[in-house]
Amino acid sequence: MEDGFCHTITSTLGAYTPERILVTGGAGFIGSALVRYLLRETDATVINVDKLTYAGNLETVADCMDDPRHQFIQLDIVDEDGLDAVFTRHQPDAVVHLAAESHVDRSIAGPAAFVQTNIVGTFHLLESVRRYWQALPSPQQEHFRFLQVSTDEVYGSAEEGEVFTEDSPYRPNSPYAASKASADHLVRAWYRTYCLPVMVVNCANAYGPWQYPEKLIPVIVLNALAEEPINVYGTGENIRDWMYVEDHVDALYLILSRVGQGSQYNIGANNTWANIDIVRKVCRVLDSLYPRKGGGSYTELIRFVADRPGHDFRYSLDTRRVGEQLDWTPKYAFEDALEQTVRWYGENRGWCRNVIAGQG
Ligand SMILES: NC(=O)c1ccc[n+]([C@@H]2O[C@H](COP(=O)([O-])OP(=O)(O)OC[C@H]3O[C@@H](n4cnc5c(N)ncnc54)[C@H](O)[C@@H]3O)[C@@H](O)[C@H]2O)c1
Repeated sequence: MEDGFCHTITSTLGAYTPERILVTGGAGFIGSALVRYLLRETDATVINVDKLTYAGNLETVADCMDDPRHQFIQLDIVDEDGLDAVFTRHQPDAVVHLAAESHVDRSIAGPAAFVQTNIVGTFHLLESVRRYWQALPSPQQEHFRFLQVSTDEVYGSAEEGEVFTEDSPYRPNSPYAASKASADHLVRAWYRTYCLPVMVVNCANAYGPWQYPEKLIPVIVLNALAEEPINVYGTGENIRDWMYVEDHVDALYLILSRVGQGSQYNIGANNTWANIDIVRKVCRVLDSLYPRKGGGSYTELIRFVADRPGHDFRYSLDTRRVGEQLDWTPKYAFEDALEQTVRWYGENRGWCRNVIAGQG
């Protein structure tokens, strides 16, 4: 987002340490990792607002529930009155907005929930934040930050050799991507129109523990260990950039605490793989951790199925801005983090079964 009118009337900060951070979606995959990170790495109090949809459950933050710096509030972000009450009571000095419907397949089967939460919910959250922020006294108003967590999918599918910068046009293809793109546009408009101090991050595919077991890596592990087919869309050549969730939340906190309003950053690991290569890698890790009873490799369970409609072929982010301006690079080595992740799902099949059965 280019600097404009708002930049001139509210000063941009250097480093600032937020003390009360409201996280939406903090019982989901990335949100719970962020909550754990904030409690572990900072002194901030965390106000965790989550509706607890099928994708959110409190086991993800079970080890944070007794921490007096963590307060969980079950709330739908479309409930503006409920949000107003939370802001009045907890007086956050930063918001990290992760609450969303996040699964592309579900957005194709039923886009309404994606429009409702990702667009309408973001609108209500922005309105509640705006009222709260406008009423803050001047120093708190200048320190306040709203961080919108978005996806690389808003840029659409990259051509061979193409990489998306923060200035690339939005060309979303799935209902999920369109709903996130719409939310980003609302966030930008609240900055440009009302000077709400926002930042937007567009992130690559995250992987790690506590991801709802409908996403690629947990599905491969669960199906393989159950000796069920591992379905791969199309020819499996679709390319994604994979980033460990701990790197993801590390980048989010850095941006929240170091960056001025109105900025936008691509966050990725420059670690692109074809889906089929990820599937084979996960199978090989499983071969070593859980050798198949009858011998052979779990790769024998791979089946190619009809492609997903509107399936973007390739996502590729130019992440130089975050590297050059904030000196940020991912810390986790892919092969190690992938092995840890596969091991985690292997050891936590009970949790996976429970959340699939709606008992999370
Ligand atoms: N997972 C990824 O690879 C990835 C990549 C880029 C961006 N993102 C973005 O990061 C954010 C978090 O993704 P995730 O993978 O952790 O998602 P997730 O589906 O695991 O978690 C989403 C959380 O939001 C909550 N939620 C859903 N609707 C809500 C509502 N109306 N009100 C309050 N809470 C609600 C859910 O209960 C859940 O806890 C999303 O905004 C997503 O678009 C994710």
